[in-house]
Amino acid sequence: MSEDPLIEQLAKMSTLEEVYDIAKDCVRCPLSQSRTKVVFGEGDSHTKLMFIGEAPGEQEDIQARPFVGRAGKFLDQLLKLAGLERSKVYITNTVKCRPPNNRKPRKGEMEKCNPYLKKQIELIKPKVICILGNASLEALLGKTSPISELRGKPIEKEGIIYFVTFHPAATLYNPAAKGEMEKDMLSLKELLEKKKIKI
Ligand code: URA
Repeated sequence: MSEDPLIEQLAKMSTLEEVYDIAKDCVRCPLSQSRTKVVFGEGDSHTKLMFIGEAPGEQEDIQARPFVGRAGKFLDQLLKLAGLERSKVYITNTVKCRPPNNRKPRKGEMEKCNPYLKKQIELIKPKVICILGNASLEALLGKTSPISELRGKPIEKEGIIYFVTFHPAATLYNPAAKGEMEKDMLSLKELLEKKKIKI
């Protein structure tokens, strides 16, 4: 039996709507005090491809939608490059509430939020998860190696292929990362084609 009552509560749920109903009023960590809105995630709940980022930023916190600010605009371009429609994938974050001043989410915050992410993955059952940046890498695979070493090398674990790349926001202050992320998106496209995964 689990020691975390949330995990027990989520175990009984079979839809994302039920999970959102709990998450939207979550007060499990201090981020709940500073957030405007919980940013649960959006997209196709039957998709084979999920994108998982770090944490909502200012625009996301206002609009309650993931990746709608500057980093989101770049993610939209990357999706287009890979021939993907945003509405046909599912996009969410490691933590569902904005950290003050967009600081990195803390380990304890990520741990408190993790049951929601795990349950989203369990219900969506993606074949591929694109990990966007370090927080997502840590939450999903543990901090193994730097992204620069993991990118382009899909990792298969428990029936899911994890495809690691940088966080789109990295390109806002490191223009060189832009080309690297574009290359990664083309590799992701190839991977989906090779595995005959239609999105
Ligand atoms: N950065 C993220 O990691 N997620 C968002 O939703 C927006 C910016």
